[in-house]
Amino acid sequence: MRLAVLASGRGSNLQAILDAIAAGTLDAEIVGVFSDKPTAQALRRVPEPLRWSRNAKDYPNRAAFDAELATAVAATRPDWVVCAGYMRILGDAFVQRFRGHLLNIHPSLLPRHRGLRTHAGALAAGDGEHGASVHFVVPELDAGAVIAQAALPVLATDTPESLAARVLRLEHPLLVAVLQMAAAGRITEQAAQATLDGQPLFTPLRLEFAPG
Ligand code: GRF
Repeated sequence: MRLAVLASGRGSNLQAILDAIAAGTLDAEIVGVFSDKPTAQALRRVPEPLRWSRNAKDYPNRAAFDAELATAVAATRPDWVVCAGYMRILGDAFVQRFRGHLLNIHPSLLPRHRGLRTHAGALAAGDGEHGASVHFVVPELDAGAVIAQAALPVLATDTPESLAARVLRLEHPLLVAVLQMAAAGRITEQAAQATLDGQPLFTPLRLEFAPG
């Protein structure tokens, strides 16, 4: 399975993928890491020839940036394109080009808390549980079919920072688990629904992981 990874920052989710590949638990190859932030730590997690980055500010508009990104991603012939902490909205043209092969990890139990500041949002809403989701990307932000989620209880003592740290520890095994299913050819997006082994997933898979 050829994986292209889009990342804007730290890249701990990318590292989880790299670690699973190195451990032999994920049958995949990273064919490129793509960033809208040339200083992203994520880029330094892979050898130089696999890195692509451009400063989005150097482009007149989103479509121009996305077009160059799409050309670079397509050139690596990925089976799947994974947004792992990619913080820039992907325009419709990019999404349509890779649709059905484009995944995102989002730090909330979608459909709750789309967009940014999900941890503060979960606290403000008084949610009893919170977590992370891996979903297919569609043009509407964080609105695509969810494949799998991992949840944790919100504690009375939680802050946005403590929640972010605990959710991140769920994100890593969750993302790897979904990519294992992708590598085995078990997941597809059909008519805006996620399928597992050819069956529509009417509710996302709930995966459980030991606290990291
Ligand atoms: C993660 O919480 C991811 O879900 C998100 O941004 C964070 C990125 O973390 N939207 P990293 O760059 O993978 O360490």
